[in-house]
Amino acid sequence: SDTRSICALKHTATNLVFGDGNPRAKLMLVGEAPGADEDRLGVPFVGVSGRLLDRMLAAIGFDRRSAYITNLLPWRPPGNRAPTNTEIEACLPFTERHIELVDPAILVFVGGVAAKTLLGRNEGITRLRGQWTDYGSAHLPRPIPSVAIFHPAYLLRSPGQKALAWRDLLAIKGRYDTLVGK
Ligand code: URA
Repeated sequence: SDTRSICALKHTATNLVFGDGNPRAKLMLVGEAPGADEDRLGVPFVGVSGRLLDRMLAAIGFDRRSAYITNLLPWRPPGNRAPTNTEIEACLPFTERHIELVDPAILVFVGGVAAKTLLGRNEGITRLRGQWTDYGSAHLPRPIPSVAIFHPAYLLRSPGQKALAWRDLLAIKGRYDTLVGK
């Protein structure tokens, strides 16, 4: 087992992928883990999935000046394998703190892994998407309304689910306009 750091992924990654966008934004998104493009550039969601995520955000009037984006894991799992529960758990306190520091008005989990981990739920994304839940953690002044959306990588494989994704994006936009203003 790795004793050099709390998460061994650090040693196979090229770059730390911390976050992108505006840390003062009121909309924060949390994905799963960097892929090859993200690892190469040190920026989350810049590959094929990232381009779709940018289009999804643009459809409801957001970009990386009005949103903030990070991942559960700041390092790429080698070969894009799924992160293990041990890796996710090792990084979870940092993700929780990251959310506390940004303290957004709305938190969006991009894909089932982020949603299940941060909500402590066992259902899959098909169940979790579209359900609004108050996300809480120790040092947040108040719970944050949160919702899961399908991961863009999943939408690229299953374009038939885009109608549900569109519905979820409109709900996010509506909730944002109510809480933050247009
Ligand atoms: N998929 C993710 O979950 N995060 C990224 O940054 C890129 C792809």
